[in-house]
Amino acid sequence: MNKIVVVGSINVDLVFTSDIRPKAGETVLGNDFRIVAGGKGANQAVAASKLGADVIVIGCVGDDANGEYSLNNFREFNVNTSCITKINDIPTGVANITVAENDNSIIVISGANYKMDRVLIDRYKKEILKADIVVLQLEIPIDTVEYTLDLCYKNNIKTILNPAPAVRLDKNLIEKASYLTPNEHECRIIFNEDKDTDIKSILRKYPNKLMITMGEKGVMYFDGNDVVIVPAYSVEAVDTTGAGDTFNGAFARAIVNNYDLKNAIDFANKAASKSVTKLGAQAGMPRLEDL
Ligand code: RIB
Repeated sequence: MNKIVVVGSINVDLVFTSDIRPKAGETVLGNDFRIVAGGKGANQAVAASKLGADVIVIGCVGDDANGEYSLNNFREFNVNTSCITKINDIPTGVANITVAENDNSIIVISGANYKMDRVLIDRYKKEILKADIVVLQLEIPIDTVEYTLDLCYKNNIKTILNPAPAVRLDKNLIEKASYLTPNEHECRIIFNEDKDTDIKSILRKYPNKLMITMGEKGVMYFDGNDVVIVPAYSVEAVDTTGAGDTFNGAFARAIVNNYDLKNAIDFANKAASKSVTKLGAQAGMPRLEDL
């Protein structure tokens, strides 16, 4: 089976739902609270695995209850945990998520995720070199992302870099990623372009590589001739947390199964649309038969 390696973050999400998003200094009464598995890396791994891919995560958790919870969650979804390191005296990453007014806002405390360093990449290099695609995000140190991309680039291994949360990216790093999947806001940050720059002019510089996710408006990319929009599937959204992660996991699954780019995006759009129908990043992620 084709192999996907996710090098990335693992969090436990504390999800609050409320009708109103509190303003600074304000207290509001909410509706619901849940503790669920999350982290962009973990979500992308689970999304791909639920769609039938063979997935390994290279990441870190703390030696604590949240770490155990995350590992058990991976096992439940058949994700290989043999390259996850338990870090002593540092807690597992957590995210405080508010779901209100049809959107989410998230604060992440990185914890053990920030212990993901070059030493761990070297330790699990063998797995990376066996991968058909490596998926990365930006919730681990950027140096580790750069180091991994460089390793993959030198060994002709495809990569997806989901640049979230966004920071301005080095040109070298952008060149080395096979696919980049920011949303529009993240796109402007990673390329250091202001809001007046025509997004299509950025797209035209990266044919068949840069895919801008636009939520319910679909995904836009440049195919070398035209700027193409692959439309989203319309659904009643309950919680959009993890929709981007589902897109990335499903996109990886489609690419390793040799879908052409447009069909891979369509497949990933379909998976992402299903994922928003339930509360929590992973609960709504579809299995292959659901698509
Ligand atoms: O993309 C959603 C994820 O972002 C959440 O699961 C949260 O943990 C943060 O990493």
